Amino acid sequence: MAGRIPQSFINDLVQRVDIVAVIDARVPLRKAGKNHKACCPFHKEKTPSFNVEGERGFYKCFGCGASGTALTFLMEHDHLEFVEAVEALARLAGVEVPREGGGVARPQAQEGLYELLAKAARLYRRALAKHAEGERAIAYLRERGLDGEIAQRFDIGFAPPGWDFLKSALGAPVPELVAAGLVVQRDEGNTYDRLRDRIVFPIRDTRGRVVGFGGRALPGEDPGPKYLNSPETPVFQKAQELYGLYEARSAKGPRLQRLVVVEGYMDVVALAQHGVLNAVATLGTAVGGSHFQKLYRNVPEVVCCFDGDEAGRAAAWRAVEAGLPALQEGRQLRFAFLPDGEDPDSHIRNVGQAGFTALVESAVSAEDYLVQRLSQGRDLSTLGDRAVLGDLAKPLLALLPPGTHKEALRSRLAQLVDVAPAALDVAPEETAAAPSRRSPRPAHAAQDSALGQRLLGHLMRDPGLCQSLDEGLASALLDADEDSLFLRVMRQTAKSPATQPVELLASFLNDPAYDTLRDLAQAPPMLDGAAVADEFAEGVARYVRERRDAERRKLAVELREDSSIETLARYWRARRERDQPAARTGS
Ligand code: UTP
Ligand code: MN
Repeated sequence: MAGRIPQSFINDLVQRVDIVAVIDARVPLRKAGKNHKACCPFHKEKTPSFNVEGERGFYKCFGCGASGTALTFLMEHDHLEFVEAVEALARLAGVEVPREGGGVARPQAQEGLYELLAKAARLYRRALAKHAEGERAIAYLRERGLDGEIAQRFDIGFAPPGWDFLKSALGAPVPELVAAGLVVQRDEGNTYDRLRDRIVFPIRDTRGRVVGFGGRALPGEDPGPKYLNSPETPVFQKAQELYGLYEARSAKGPRLQRLVVVEGYMDVVALAQHGVLNAVATLGTAVGGSHFQKLYRNVPEVVCCFDGDEAGRAAAWRAVEAGLPALQEGRQLRFAFLPDGEDPDSHIRNVGQAGFTALVESAVSAEDYLVQRLSQGRDLSTLGDRAVLGDLAKPLLALLPPGTHKEALRSRLAQLVDVAPAALDVAPEETAAAPSRRSPRPAHAAQDSALGQRLLGHLMRDPGLCQSLDEGLASALLDADEDSLFLRVMRQTAKSPATQPVELLASFLNDPAYDTLRDLAQAPPMLDGAAVADEFAEGVARYVRERRDAERRKLAVELREDSSIETLARYWRARRERDQPAARTGS
């Protein structure tokens, strides 16, 4: 969010480069009238349905639905990160990439954070080797079966005991140390090192820059929480980073085809110790949509391998929901389940590299897992249970992008439920929010109120705002069955979190509202970053309240005409919701 490339520069750049030349260099194009065509690089096909409109600067595949600009093409096709793709386009156009002065942190400040974090990593690494207490840390790593080579590969370090090892060794101003997440500031103003007497795992971004740390307690009298992680900072967003991805990408050998997602730092490191070099972990958070986008930018196949316990199985189910929207043609999402009580670290120590690889090879597809889990305990020879299966599966099916994954799952479910495949499709407005029960009322297309328009503007300039909303508030908003532009854009950002306006804009390329959205995205912000986030959260809360008020008033009128139980129930529900300050819409 902070210190980024100016949006106006990106827009100009995307307009300036010749998308036909960019794509043609990678996928030979054939001229077809005003446009160009090719077989789509994003799914398998024999007749070309991939179209490039040079004049408008975008591409769209009518087979799999892939669409975007030269920028999104580079991200998807060349597996580049957003900034890398901008830089690649800028090189083509022969211009320098400028960095923005405004925002939460200036680029210099961000550069400063990277430097500070790199220095901290060096100090931690040196402390592991040289500090008087470092021996205990090394003994612990040995005990867990890790050797020096692996410690080096992951740049593992040691935060010595004591409150101000980093603070004094780095000698940087305290506000900077706090901004980097290295030092904690208490309300009374006391400051101290966040990580003390811990093994330190540096978290690196895909370019190899240290953006944060995870610290594991050493066994001792009062170790506190087992793991402590850096907080989010201008250079570290947990929903975006994966521990071990940099290391996996830099491993020698053929191009990575598959990444294995595990739960913990230690799992990643222990797997590497045993020769499995393609594991990554989220950072104490559930694996989300942005993680999957990042994963699939690097490999076509993702295998989730979570702990063999209730939490691990719950995480797997969440991963199905988060991963389905990314399952375009040619991509695979699979799940490997560990024996009860094992995690990848303990399991590979039991069965070795070959055993673990066999487990990963035999992982079940997301579709198999989904069908199996939803039919569990149901008797599909009964009409009732089949109907339940259909109802449960519908919103999940809707999460899949068009393509063979979706078609195969749809026909398989149709057979199980014993309905026509089309009966499993849900209207688009029912799917935009996370799978949830909703009333069967038709959506009414609403004009955006002044408030809605202002919120839309904020969101277009900074799509990350969607993720910053409190979960209850977000779902209260997204559960609405209205079709205003603001709600449509919110649903899009919730469905596939975009961090940059162009990414978001790209998904509306063929929408009549595209021009409006682009103008909003380009309008200069009126507030600075932190204030925008506050205003946005506050505005959304007000928006939800206002909408509920209106809904209730409308129902009250309806009730005079129609006093059926159903309308009455809706009215009471609306009133109850109106009175809930936390703004969570239960079912
Ligand atoms: P686990 O407790 O499963 O970690 O937490 P682990 O890797 O098996 O730990 P070891 O083997 O005992 O060292 C998985 C992940 O959850 C986060 C960390 O990211 C950890 O790697 N976590 C866990 C925390 O952030 N804080 C905690 O207190 C515990
Ligand atoms: Mn473990």
